[in-house]
Amino acid sequence: MRLFAAADLPDDVRLPLAAWGAASGEICPELRPVAEDRLHLTLVFLGSRSEEDAERLGPLVVGCADGPVEVVLGEPLWLAPRRPHVLTVALRDCTGALAALQGRVADALDEHEDRAYRPHVTVARVRKGARIRPSEVELPPAPEASFGLEALALYSSRLGPKPRYEPLAKVPLA
Ligand code: 2AM
Repeated sequence: MRLFAAADLPDDVRLPLAAWGAASGEICPELRPVAEDRLHLTLVFLGSRSEEDAERLGPLVVGCADGPVEVVLGEPLWLAPRRPHVLTVALRDCTGALAALQGRVADALDEHEDRAYRPHVTVARVRKGARIRPSEVELPPAPEASFGLEALALYSSRLGPKPRYEPLAKVPLA
């Protein structure tokens, strides 16, 4: 199973993000919008791990929660910018609490990437084989919101046309 640590978003943020992903998909049919119930903020991606790891790592992730994390929705962000495979909305970390949380989770899981953490919510994926040139796509205006992250969790992901995310351990952040 594939594992990742992520933060849940409040319903009233997921709904406008999902609507924006759907509207972007209408403008740009190469995009496949992410369903509202699967929108999340990835903190650390662990990849394929054993059942044993899944059991061991959940408590380490939830142990990283340390109070509210206030963030603001930012600009649309294609990743990777020159040859995108996803359309995302960047998150602004106004207080630094998000970077601190992500750092604690990465330390707890001993999982560090070479590149800097770039917080974003993926709202649509580029369809297999399609190529998008961001400069040629006029996206609808992205939603605006300022909110607290709802929960911190370790998720397992089962691949398929509709990946299923299952929380293995979860703690509220509010
Ligand atoms: P992203 O969509 O926010 O970029 C579950 O699959 C989550 O883990 C995805 O939402 C994705 O985050 C992240 N993820 C999947 N594959 C990844 C990879 N190879 N490297 C880093 N993050 C990955």
